[in-house]
Amino acid sequence: MKITIVGAGYVGLVSGACLADLGSAVCCVESNPKRLAALRRGVVPIYEPGLEEMVARNVAAGRLSFSGELAPEVPASDMVFLAVGTPTRAEDGETDLSYVHAAVGAIAEAAHDGLIIVTKSTVPVSTGSEIERNIRRLRPGLRFAVVSNPEFLREGTAIVDFMKPDRVVIGAEDDWAGDRVAMLYAPLAERGVPVIRTRRSSAEVIKYAANAFLAVKISFVNEMSDFCEATGADISEVAHAIGLDPRIGRQFLRPGPGYGGSCLPKDGRAILQSAAKRSVKLRVIAGAVAANEARKQAMAGRVAAALGGEPQGKRVAVLGLAFKPDTDDIRESPALALVPLLQKAGAAVAVFDPKGMEAAAAVLSGVEWSADAYACAEGADAVVLATEWPEFVELDFPRLAAAMRGRSFVDLRNAVPRERLAAAGLTRFGIGDSRPPAAT
Ligand code: UDX
Repeated sequence: MKITIVGAGYVGLVSGACLADLGSAVCCVESNPKRLAALRRGVVPIYEPGLEEMVARNVAAGRLSFSGELAPEVPASDMVFLAVGTPTRAEDGETDLSYVHAAVGAIAEAAHDGLIIVTKSTVPVSTGSEIERNIRRLRPGLRFAVVSNPEFLREGTAIVDFMKPDRVVIGAEDDWAGDRVAMLYAPLAERGVPVIRTRRSSAEVIKYAANAFLAVKISFVNEMSDFCEATGADISEVAHAIGLDPRIGRQFLRPGPGYGGSCLPKDGRAILQSAAKRSVKLRVIAGAVAANEARKQAMAGRVAAALGGEPQGKRVAVLGLAFKPDTDDIRESPALALVPLLQKAGAAVAVFDPKGMEAAAAVLSGVEWSADAYACAEGADAVVLATEWPEFVELDFPRLAAAMRGRSFVDLRNAVPRERLAAAGLTRFGIGDSRPPAAT
């Protein structure tokens, strides 16, 4: 099968490399000349474990290529996947579909009978119908289909998520098109991966419903952790016990500073917009979204408490800027909300992240950029662990403590075993646990 993918960003590149690995001939079209040049040189412009090797392997095998122009690729393609960005529009909070519609216009001009357009980008429900109407208007009489095939890729584990997914969802109004898209995933189906065939609108909703449910779960456990703090309970014990009930499930019950990233926050807001337009009230999701915003803002108060209630003139080291480990993505990261609030309260802030420094430099100002965690902790009154990078959990804590001026360690991810901190003479301020901080 010959596939063109529009957009060699995160989703496009991972999907392109993986589909090539499954045997299709894939061309990723990238309009950003810098990005395109890098990809052609074999440089993958995002940090995702295993991706660079997979791209290299498939380019070498002649199954994966990159191009700057869409139109010449369409005539020879069986399918065109849309993997362009669908950001939130700043003016009105709506999903910005301009990249999708621009690509669709170009595809329509070059389209041939039998072409299948597949939406991989996360698009609001009914976008598939809208694309279909637009192409029909531009090319009356053309035989084509629009299929929804949402991605469920987590940053940091995207390759595994693509190759060993919990499910593949294919939403099609035309069986012939759904069958052809399903053929791409036949190697996965043979390995037992469920390939779910749905209506197109259901597939569009499935993506939002999945992310909204995850957001609800995280906001739930975060609020429950506040309740634990107020009642003498310990959220790790509570989450462990409730998670053993398979109806609840163990995953996504880790309390923290609020969820971030490129999907959960954006998709939560987008489904609320879609529902409001249809006069449907999604009170549970609205609650989860509001709770998450409040959560991010509340983290500065926790750090202030660890500073004895007075951040003015104090020095704080923030470890972790990426929204989660194993990514350089800082989008909507809780750390980015925390740092300016600490600065506003009068604290001097030093930061370090293994991968996210470059991206953070564009959004944070007035901070001290440190070369590593120990340099970051130099002279700090409090160290805040904002992202649970494994290297932070494995730090030499006596060395960290020796570099600091104060003794407070605010573990916003409950990532470091309390004994390890206590052994280093550090005072732990964790999440959802009202036991008094154990100082030695
Ligand atoms: C998410 C979805 O998991 C994926 O299926 C989807 O298609 C894209 O969005 P991603 O954004 O890469 O993936 O990150 P994820 O691992 O889901 O984490 C999202 C956020 O939730 C992170 O900020 C993480 O720290 C936070 N989180 C996650 C918690 O606070 N607690 C948890 O228990 C789990």
